[in-house]
This record gives sequence, structure tokens and C-alpha cells, in this order.
Amino acid sequence: MIYHYSSVDSTNTIAARMAALGAGHGTVVHADRQTGGRGRAGREFVSPEGGLYFSLVLIPALDSADFPLITLAAGVGLCQAIFQIAQLNVQLKWPNDLYIADRKLGGILTESGPYRRNSCPEYVIVGVGINVTTEPAQFPSSLRSRVISLYHGRKCSLEVETLLHALVDGVLSSVQKLAVNRQFLLADWQSLDYLQGRELEYDGAEGKTFATGCGLAPDGRYIVRTRDGAEHHILAGDINPVRLKFPEQPV
Ligand code: BTN
Repeated sequence: MIYHYSSVDSTNTIAARMAALGAGHGTVVHADRQTGGRGRAGREFVSPEGGLYFSLVLIPALDSADFPLITLAAGVGLCQAIFQIAQLNVQLKWPNDLYIADRKLGGILTESGPYRRNSCPEYVIVGVGINVTTEPAQFPSSLRSRVISLYHGRKCSLEVETLLHALVDGVLSSVQKLAVNRQFLLADWQSLDYLQGRELEYDGAEGKTFATGCGLAPDGRYIVRTRDGAEHHILAGDINPVRLKFPEQPV
């Protein structure tokens, strides 16, 4: 079942409310824009018209250890669906961002319902925001050089409903793949890894730390190698490519 709204605060909030009232696996809440879109770590997710914003209710039959991998599985499903439908190669920036050409195309916010006695949540909400025809001017100036949309500057050749169905099916089948064989799913994720082999910076125990991206650990953490040769398995936080800093004005 798909519920469509022209404007909501956050599709994740509405989907969670529906799931708490008994909405089933596969229920979708879709909106043309959001006034209170949320990203990871409590950040705002700017959601103007031209983007695709949806939240999917999942009641997956997974081992408790696999629940933290749902965001990774969703990312794989989205990349595969976008490739099939628009022939575009999207990469995944751990843990939840979709990237094209070094810019953010979209993101995933996974939120869990209350936990049962078996250590699994009653439901999971996978929220997805993708810039489809959004123009840079629709974003705050601080984000304009960092975002991209699927059909940037071109006419969208797909109906929004067609794209939505493809993305929802992509997420559902990828989460199913996680249930059947997590190794295959993690291998698929590795092939889409945006950070692999790049020079990175992240906030480590001793402040800003520089490292090289080394891929995914079996438990879904991200492995980096710092300049002293040590490997670190990152559980949470932001890992970003080191950006070359050019002076604003030629000197
Ligand atoms: C991120 O960039 O940190 C994740 C962004 C996730 C945004 C989607 S849009 C649909 C759903 N509703 C929300 O409020 N957030 C997610």
C-alpha cells in the first residue's frame, strides 16, 4: 500500500505512526516535499520539490545481528534500482549516503520501533530521500556545491511513480537478500563503496584523524587504516574524503 502526500513534516514520522498502529511490511509513505525532513545524527534533511521522499515499513525476518545492516542493504537495493531504471552508476558512502560524481544524490535514515524480548525491533522504518530534478538553487548555499540530482538540468524521463516502485522493490529485495545470505549482500555493498582507497578524515578518539578507506567489516563497521598502519573499525560518525582546499581568490 502506498500513501501519497503533497507535503508532510517527515515521511518517517508518519510511517512510524502507521507501523505502531499495525501497518504491514511493505507499506510506503511518499511525499513531494517535507518541511521537517530528518537525516542521520538529528540533522535536517532539506527536502524541496523535485526530490523523491519515501519511507518504507519493514517487518523483516532477520537475525538480531542483521538489523544494523538494513541501511547498507537498502543502499545496495537503491543503487541497483537506479542503475536498472536510469543507467546511472551510484556509489555508497558509508553508512547511509548515495553519491554520484563526488556529490550527494540522497540519503537513507533507518529508524527502529520498540524492541521485543528476542532483541529484534517490532518494525523498522527505512526512509529514503533522492534528489531527482532538484536544482542547486533549491538548497541552502552551504550545500549547493555538494549535492547533485538524478536528472540535473535535464528533463526527468521517468514518471515519479515508476521510479518510486523501482526503488521500493530494490530495497525490499535487497533486505530479503540480507536475510538469505548476508555475505552476498556485503559483497554487493563493497562493489559500490565510494570511500574505498580514498584519503579520508574522521573524528577519532584523539580528534581529527586521517586515514585510507579499506572497505566493510563483516559486522557492517567501516575499516580505515591510519597513517601509522593501524586498522580501525568505525561504528558510527562521519567519514569524509579529504577535500583539496583551494584559495577563494587566485593569489
Ligand atoms: C541523511 O542524509 O542523513 C539521511 C536522509 C534521509 C532522508 C529521508 S527523506 C524520507 C525520510 N523522511 C525523513 O525525514 N528522512 C528520510
